[in-house]
Amino acid sequence: MFLRVSTICLGKNYFIVSFFLYIYTHKVEEILEQADYLYESGETEKLYRLLISYKESEDAELLWRLARASRDIAQLSRTSEEEKKRLVYEALEYAKRALEKNESSFAAHKWYAICISDVGDYEGIKVKIANAYIIKEHFEKAIELNPKDATSIHLMGIWCYTFAEMPWYQRKIAKMLFATPPNSTYEEALSYFHRAEQVDPNFYSKNLLLLGKTYLKIQNRKLAAFWLLKAKDYPAHTEEDKQIQTEAAQLLTSFSVKN
Ligand SMILES: *[C@@H]1O[C@H](CO)[C@@H](O)[C@H](O)[C@H]1NC(C)=O
Ligand SMILES: *[C@@H]1O[C@H](CO)[C@@H](O)[C@H](O)[C@H]1NC(C)=O
Repeated sequence: MFLRVSTICLGKNYFIVSFFLYIYTHKVEEILEQADYLYESGETEKLYRLLISYKESEDAELLWRLARASRDIAQLSRTSEEEKKRLVYEALEYAKRALEKNESSFAAHKWYAICISDVGDYEGIKVKIANAYIIKEHFEKAIELNPKDATSIHLMGIWCYTFAEMPWYQRKIAKMLFATPPNSTYEEALSYFHRAEQVDPNFYSKNLLLLGKTYLKIQNRKLAAFWLLKAKDYPAHTEEDKQIQTEAAQLLTSFSVKN
C-alpha cells in the first residue's frame, strides 16, 4: 500500500513517514474493528476500556465511538449519579473533538447532538432551549450526510415530538427567552418516524412505539393501534425493547378499555 514507486524518488524520509502512517492507519482500523465487534456483542465495559486508552486520538471515527461508549456506561443502572454526570460531559468532549477532526462524518454530527442532549439534564432551561437549536442542526446535518441512517431520522422525529408536546408554561418561558422558540408539530414528528421506517423497516422498537404514540396524540386510534401492536410484538433483544413492549401493551389496553 505505501510502497509506491514515488517513494523511491522522494527519498528516505518520505519512506519512513509513509511507513509510520501505514502502521498507524492499520492500527486504527484494527481498533475500530475490535470496537465494533464489542459493540455488537453488547460488551459495554470492555469497549469503554479499549477506547478510553486512545482518548488522545485524532481520529474522528475512534472519537465518536468513545463518546458513544462513555454515554453507554453512563446509562448503566450500576453507574452512580456522580459518575454518570462526569461521563456525559466527557462523552460530549469526545464527540466535539470527533466533529472538529471531521466535519463530514455523519456519525460525529449524530453523537454530538445526542451528547448535547444528555448534558441538558444538568443544565438550566435557558441552556436547554439554546441547545435545542444546535441539536436540531446537527441531526439535520447527519441526515444530509447519510440519508440512509434511520437512527438520525428517528432522533429528529423525537426532537419534533418533544417540542410538539412541550407544555404551555415551558413554551411561555421559551418565548420570553428567545425570539423564535423551538417549535414543532406531531405531523412533522410523524413524517420523520415514517421516513425512518421507509429507510430501514423495523429497525428499532422505539420508532414503532413513537409512531403509535404520535397517532394517539392526533386522535388517530386506528393507526395508533396498528403501530402499537407492531411495537408490542417486536422481538426483544435489549432491555429497552422489553420496556417498549410493556409500554406499547399498556397503551393498547388503556385505549381499548376506553372504546
Ligand atoms: C471524514 O469522514 C468521511 C465520511 O465518513 C470520510 O469519507 C472522510 O475520508 C473522512 N475524512 C478524514 C480526513 O478522515
Ligand atoms: C408553533 O408553530 C405553529 C405553526 O408553525 C404555530 O401555529 C404556533 O403558534 C407556534 N407555537 C408557538 C408557541 O410558537
